[in-house]
Amino acid sequence: MQNICNDIKYIGVNDTEIDLFEGMYSVKKGISYNSYVIIDEKIAVFDTADAHFTEQWLNNLDKALGGKKPDYLIISHMEPDHSANIASFVNVYPEAQIVGNRKTFIMLDGFFGSGIKNRKEVADGETLSLGKHTLKFIFAPMVHWPEVMVTYDSASGVLFSADAFGTFDLSDGVLGEEWDNEARRYYFGIVGKYGAQVTSLLGKLSMYDIKSIYPLHGPAITGDIARYIDKYCLWAGYKPESDGVMIAYSSVYGHTARAAKFLADNLRANGCTDIRVCDLAREDRSMCVAEAFKYGKLVLATTTYNADIFPAMREFITCLTERNYQNRMVAFIENGSWMPMAARLMRERFEKSKNLRFAENNVSILSELSEDNVRQLSLLAAELCK
Ligand code: FEO
Repeated sequence: MQNICNDIKYIGVNDTEIDLFEGMYSVKKGISYNSYVIIDEKIAVFDTADAHFTEQWLNNLDKALGGKKPDYLIISHMEPDHSANIASFVNVYPEAQIVGNRKTFIMLDGFFGSGIKNRKEVADGETLSLGKHTLKFIFAPMVHWPEVMVTYDSASGVLFSADAFGTFDLSDGVLGEEWDNEARRYYFGIVGKYGAQVTSLLGKLSMYDIKSIYPLHGPAITGDIARYIDKYCLWAGYKPESDGVMIAYSSVYGHTARAAKFLADNLRANGCTDIRVCDLAREDRSMCVAEAFKYGKLVLATTTYNADIFPAMREFITCLTERNYQNRMVAFIENGSWMPMAARLMRERFEKSKNLRFAENNVSILSELSEDNVRQLSLLAAELCK
């Protein structure tokens, strides 16, 4: 990542060895743990890096400092992918103050014991002058943990955004559509449950003239900032990005998959062009979840299994409902060789979901598609394309 200006330097690391981020998310290219330093009359470091990168991160910092000593280590977030090296930092720079809020320091004690004493507790909206740069701390609880705070630097217009605006990518990753896909997966995976809190943060940020966003993962966002903030407004508000249809299915012997594909063909014939068909048992779960939030209409097709829903579908629906899936249209296709009941069971799982509209034309299959099913699927396609 390039330095935004001469006195803000990037000192983070790229992790290309990681298999699963947070023990569950695949990251094809790897992921960065971003860290920054502002060199001014006073020197402030923003966050550390994952425990596997102590030496590399300290070397990056040492090089950026050019023989100077840091005055502050600002803790945006205490999750270990960013905080693991606080004690190592204190060992090397014992005179620097650790800057955080009351909740930060409760977690600091939890992770490191109470031995780190040189602390500066800040309040929401408090400022800290480094000289030319004045930092404003803006609390962002539950984006992604309760202690999270973002920092706005009025001199450069940089927002140090913590986990917000992060993505599953390296620090030199690309913006645009590739960012959309991985940042959406990251957003709904990591903070999708906390849309209200993200919306609240976006409201607070609307009064700042943000020129660049420096997140804790992935590339810096520069240029058309509004494009990326608009995406976050949609995601945080649980609003669809596309009026198209996602068909998510699980299939044991291929019959339910055929129904999903037949429906997709019918949708195309009805003029619907933005269609995503997703095999829940074989595709990346977190990508399927993120895409369910992208589309305004969702068709769930699955088999009855152990008098319940097939496991891949059950887990998928849980991922949606625990992230407050809402404001969309949902349709069901069930299959069962002797007593299909998956449609009713799927619908029950959305009982607590807000503002869902359920399709009138659901489809019940007894093993293989019947002529009646073909007719039902055509009616469903027409209803979805209205
Ligand atoms: Fe990248 Fe919530 O930590």
